[in-house]
Amino acid sequence: MSSETAKAALISAAKEARVRAHAPFSKFKVGAALETAAGEIVTGCNIENASYGLTLCAERVAIFKAVSEGQRKFTALAVAVDTDELTPPCGACRQIIWEFCGDIPVTMANLAGRTETMQMSDLLPKAFDGRFLSDS
Ligand code: THU
Repeated sequence: MSSETAKAALISAAKEARVRAHAPFSKFKVGAALETAAGEIVTGCNIENASYGLTLCAERVAIFKAVSEGQRKFTALAVAVDTDELTPPCGACRQIIWEFCGDIPVTMANLAGRTETMQMSDLLPKAFDGRFLSDS
């Protein structure tokens, strides 16, 4: 992430995406915004399903959208919620973020203006990824 301005734009995009969340079951709306190496922003929101297990988190929607459109290099991620406590990515998302984005900064934000930024290597220490498969 190049600057505080870029970080603010990413948080703002995550908040906008959050409004489009489809969360009729949990009512917990989440927005995510992914910064590409080219400086573009790709957003995602959580999309729930009546079977619950088929729900996709906002972070994975953003990453899968970006990858499906040919983007492969990412520099930062923001996640926005409307709770006092900031929401870190769930375990499944941490694995996906790590594999597609590597050690990027993840900014957690809420609508009240609270933010916290953590590196992925702190959110997912000792990660498993494709490098472990290269010997087999
Ligand atoms: N959720 C996300 O979209 N991202 C997170 O980081 C945590 C959880 C969604 C999944 C589900 O739709 C709702 O929040 C409650 O778990």
